[in-house]
Parts: sequence; C-alpha cells; structure tokens
Amino acid sequence: MSSDLTQPLNAPLTLPCGLILKNRLVKAAMTEGLAGPDGLPNEQLLRLYRTWAQSGVAVLITGNVMVDGTHLERPGNVILDQELNPSGLAAFTAWAAAGSAHDCQMWMQISHPGRQTQKRANPAPRSASDVGLNLPGGRFARPVPLHPDEIRLLIERYAAAARQAKGCGFSGVQIHAAHGYLISQFLSPQSNRRTDEWGGSLDKRARFLRSIVAAVRAQTGSDFAVSVKLNSSDFQQGGFGADDARQVVRWLEADGVDLIELSGGTYEQPRMLEFDGIDPREDIRLRASTRAREAFFQGFAAELKEEVSVPLMVTGGFRSATGMAEAIAVDGISAIGIGRPLCGDPVCTQKLLRDGEDLPRFERILGNPGGFFGTNSPVKLIKMMASFSVMAWYYDQLVLLGNGQKNDPHPYPFKRLLALERREVQWIKARKTWLARFS
Ligand SMILES: Cc1cc2nc3c(=O)[nH]c(=O)nc-3n(C[C@H](O)[C@H](O)[C@H](O)COP(=O)(O)O)c2cc1C
Repeated sequence: MSSDLTQPLNAPLTLPCGLILKNRLVKAAMTEGLAGPDGLPNEQLLRLYRTWAQSGVAVLITGNVMVDGTHLERPGNVILDQELNPSGLAAFTAWAAAGSAHDCQMWMQISHPGRQTQKRANPAPRSASDVGLNLPGGRFARPVPLHPDEIRLLIERYAAAARQAKGCGFSGVQIHAAHGYLISQFLSPQSNRRTDEWGGSLDKRARFLRSIVAAVRAQTGSDFAVSVKLNSSDFQQGGFGADDARQVVRWLEADGVDLIELSGGTYEQPRMLEFDGIDPREDIRLRASTRAREAFFQGFAAELKEEVSVPLMVTGGFRSATGMAEAIAVDGISAIGIGRPLCGDPVCTQKLLRDGEDLPRFERILGNPGGFFGTNSPVKLIKMMASFSVMAWYYDQLVLLGNGQKNDPHPYPFKRLLALERREVQWIKARKTWLARFS
C-alpha cells in the first residue's frame, strides 16, 4: 500500500499544550451506557477501553461523562460529580489506565444534556430558556431556564470534573459544545432566548462555553489538553449557523484551546450521523461546500483552516484511507475522528494505519434505514424511532464488547430497540434504589 496514504495518518501531532499525539486518528466520543447505577466506570468499561487502546489510534475520547448526577443524558452514563469519594476516584483512575495502554491517550468528554434527555431519565431538565425540543412522541420534557447563580455553579462543575480527570490520569478533556446538548443550547438563538449576560448577541451566547474553557484551563494547567467539540452548524432555521461557528472557533483559538473537533446537528437535526432531521432544513451553503468531500464537515474545516492555526479535527463519515490522507495532507486538517466503525470492529484502525485499508461501513449493513418505515419516513414518529433503532445497534455492540463478546453484525433493528428500552428502564429502577440509600 502506498505510503502516500499511510504517512499522513501516522505523522505525530504536537498540540499547543505540548502534548504529542502519536498519529492523526482519534476515537470520537461515543456514549457507552455501560456504567452501573452508581455512575462509576466498571469492569465492562475497562474491558471496552482496553480493547480500543489496541486499535492504534492516538486518543480515545470517552463517551460523554456527566458533570451533574441529577442531569443524565441517558441511563448508564458515567458520572463525575464534584462530591466523589476516594473509591469513586479510584474507578476513574483504573479507567484512565485501561485506555492509556499502548501509548494511547485517554481524554474525558465532559457534558451536561440540558433539555436533550428523555423524560424517564430526567423529568425536570434545565436549559438556557424554556424552549422544548420539537420532537414527536412526548418523550422529552420542557426545560426550566437556569438561574444565573446555577450557571456559575455549573461552570465550576465542568472545571471540577476536568481537575479530577487530570488527577485520575486522563491527559486531556473535551468540552462537549456540540449536538444540541446544554452548551450548544446556549450557543443557539433558537434555544437561548435569554436577555441577561448569557443570551442575545453571539458573544453573550458563547459566554457559557468560553467561561467553561477558562475555568477548565485554570484548574488543569498549561500542560493538559483542552479540546472543544463544536457544531459547524445546527442545520436549523434560526439556530447556530456556519458564520457563528467560524467566529466561535476564532475565540476558542484566542482562549488557548488545543484541539477543536468539528461536527454538526442536534437531536432534531441529526446530521452528525447523516440522518435527515424531523423537519429537513439545511445550511445549504455548508452542504454544498462539503458535498465534494468524504466527511460531512470537511469542507467547512478546510475553509476555516485558511483563517486559524488552532488544530482542527473533523468527525463524521470518514471511511476511506484516501479521504483521510487528503483531509490531512491537502485540507490541512490536523486529526480525524472515527466513531461508528470502532463500535462494529474495535480494532479496524490497525489495518488503516498499517496498510491503508479502508474502514468498515456498518451504516451500509444497517441500510441507514430509508423509505416509509425508516429514517426518511414522512411520518415524524416513525422517522425518530427508526433513528433510535439504528443507534440501538451501535449501543448493543458496545455492550457486547464490554462483556468480552464478539460483535453481532445482524441488524435486527426493532429487537435491539426493545432490548435497549428494557435495559434502560431496569437501569433507572436500579439508580433510584441506589440513590435511596443516601436519602
Ligand atoms: C453509539 C454512538 C454514541 C455517540 N455518543 C456521542 C457522545 O457521547 N458524544 C459525542 O460528542 N458524540 C457522540 N456520538 C457521535 C460521534 O462522536 C460522531 O460524531 C459520529 O458518530 C459521526 O462519526 P462517524 O461517522 O465516524 O461515526 C455518538 C455516536 C454513536 C454512533
């Protein structure tokens, strides 16, 4: 295989904080749903990350870890709350060690879901404003706006989580500001209708994110990697768009962020997985600039690279060695994020790095369900449930890997969806029992 392909992928990358990544591949954050009712890393999570550490990638970014145990994104989330005792911290230390084998680095993605959490996981979500998700089925509760004092406390929670992550052996954190979660809700004028210092103009909507970045840096020091995952667009009318993203990237560069991962979309518009949204509305310009390339947000990143020097990572759709090598060598993108291929084959990147072999396209096996009964259905509820059932396949693969079992390529979408529902309901019961011990 030509070294023109493998060379760019294997080139080390030095981040502004001085940390060196051994190559350009990063496992993107993927919520695992494997923690027990205490929200701590357990044997399943350790096994999964030990396996991924053998994949050859430079960094494993964990699935979104919750900074507030009363606000979960989904059952089975890992929780790094401020008040963890030493035995809780030991579980995180073991997790960091599991993913740091073979010269791989472990970064923790820290997050708060805001309004993007199903009622059964959180019937009382909080957000920037009281704007509910526009999704059918009544699964999501309308959020209550955060009080300014609560916003300040939340900033401290993100910073405390980052400090504890560093103490436990993680070499970096990623602040999740994408995909419609809380920070993304603050960034979007569609979900942030505040008139105080946290809403209104872009600089006010970005204040929450930038305050978190500053607090995290202050708590972790200059030799620790601080990354941000940001939407290149929400792809929603009146939402956070490409011009907003461009400005926020400039600010984050000035704020000393080490790596910005570009993604896009929200639950209402899941473009990060190339699903159609409930009400298909596109950022036409962004789409046109990306169509010619393999990855969804690559065109936007290539344009931005002309203006900023902060390392950019692009995640979403990368599968071919040629596409990835070109993104690095031609577009100047610093790192490539890989998600779904590493669920279905946890070490598929070994052959990519060694021989330039393309990554598996599991989305094709699943058929990215189209048609009336799939993610393209004109019936909104069917469309949403079809997207959930595709996700259930990926979640199932992580459960299998966590249990030390082989991947199961069969789609069985509805069977998997039912199994996921059962698992999550059981987890919620177990969590309630666990919490009752402390009340
Ligand atoms: C099972 C699964 C869980 C995910 N969880 C997260 C998450 O916790 N945080 C996040 O930023 N993105 C999450 N994502 C999105 C991925 O990080 C990535 O952006 C997306 O899968 C597109 O990349 P790909 O085409 O390589 O899969 C998740 C994706 C999948 C498939």
